[in-house]
Amino acid sequence: MKAFDIYIFFIYCAYQIEKYGRIRYNFNSGLEENMITEIKTIFNQKFGYEPTKTYYSPGRVNIIGGHTDYNGGHVLPFCISLGIYAAVSYRDDAVVNIYSKNIPDKGIVSFGLDELEYDEKRDFANYASGVFKELIIRKYNINKGFDLALVSNLPTGGGLSSSAAFLVLICKILNDQFNLGLDGTKMALISKTVENQYIGVSCGIMDQFIIANGKANTAIFLNASNLNYEYVPFKTDEYKFVLVNSNITRKLVESKYNVRQRESQEVLEILKQHVDIDNVCDVCPCQYEELAKHIDNPDLKKRFKHLIDENYRVKLSKVALANNDFVKLGSLLNEAHISVRDLYEVSSEVLDELVELATKSGSLGSKMIGGGFGGSTLNIIKADELDKFIETFTKAYMDKYNLQPIINLVEITDGVKQIND
Ligand code: GLA
Repeated sequence: MKAFDIYIFFIYCAYQIEKYGRIRYNFNSGLEENMITEIKTIFNQKFGYEPTKTYYSPGRVNIIGGHTDYNGGHVLPFCISLGIYAAVSYRDDAVVNIYSKNIPDKGIVSFGLDELEYDEKRDFANYASGVFKELIIRKYNINKGFDLALVSNLPTGGGLSSSAAFLVLICKILNDQFNLGLDGTKMALISKTVENQYIGVSCGIMDQFIIANGKANTAIFLNASNLNYEYVPFKTDEYKFVLVNSNITRKLVESKYNVRQRESQEVLEILKQHVDIDNVCDVCPCQYEELAKHIDNPDLKKRFKHLIDENYRVKLSKVALANNDFVKLGSLLNEAHISVRDLYEVSSEVLDELVELATKSGSLGSKMIGGGFGGSTLNIIKADELDKFIETFTKAYMDKYNLQPIINLVEITDGVKQIND
């Protein structure tokens, strides 16, 4: 952009914010120069010297495939231009110091490599100690720490996977620091183990996988049962993905996420008595009537129906996306939201309301993102109707909640990466 364009753009933004509420635009590569400069400055202020490397670890959006990953199904996520910016320098001793601008009250959190057990007091930095511990368990020779400063524009608890972004970031830094030779899949698996066993969330592999492997302007069609995947490039000139944050935060560890995980396991146990499968998502929707007869609990029946229909929808969505058929994709997203709302029951009143208001405001497809029970929605909007959508939606939202919605127009970015030398 030329200086004049930037000037006009800022005036336009100021006008939009005044008129419509909190709207964030992320253009081009999605990486924000000011965030990169800011994180270097913060590093310098906190540690008193220049960082040697900077990194970006994005949040993610799952276009479709709600809760299919830990049921051996498919998912279709991409990385977004909201994420964690990090500045780091390696240390010569076995000490790790981490400062997050988003959690300033904690100051610099420190731990030694001889004290890697989970520690409440360590707060967010447990994600880092968890990765150190897991790598050491896996016999990687990790014997030195680092100084690390972080700043994130990813809303915590916003359903955009800030936790996976942090875990994969630490994995990537250590991979580079110690030349571990880990590929994206290995980093994803290590990060997932930390989240499951150290943090205590029984999440699937989707978030870590896309953050470790994502590519700009591309989604990944991932088979979560064997980690085979395909890149699905697509264009966003005519249609835009728009995120709306409900502003209601939630932690997966406290939500019913683990309950749904257990319920799926129960469904699987029942099904295994009748069909030869490894995962619930191995069942095709055509087998539903036959197999549902064996499930007495009506809630489990609903979970089962959601999972197999949703897995099928992911496959259809992948084709629609590859053909840039956003109208078809939109209708699949709408079906997916109804299914997570009524069958898997992981939505929330506010998320349902956001979906309804967005649909009335012209969205072609809307659904909640991520684990559910709060967080954000994904909406498909025709590019030339974007302004109209924002105006209509914001008005409807403000009439209802007397609150400004947070609307993010994101770019689809690469996964975790170093952003300087
Ligand atoms: C969270 C988990 C993922 C996935 C989604 C639901 O984001 O981390 O593994 O299960 O919820 O689709």
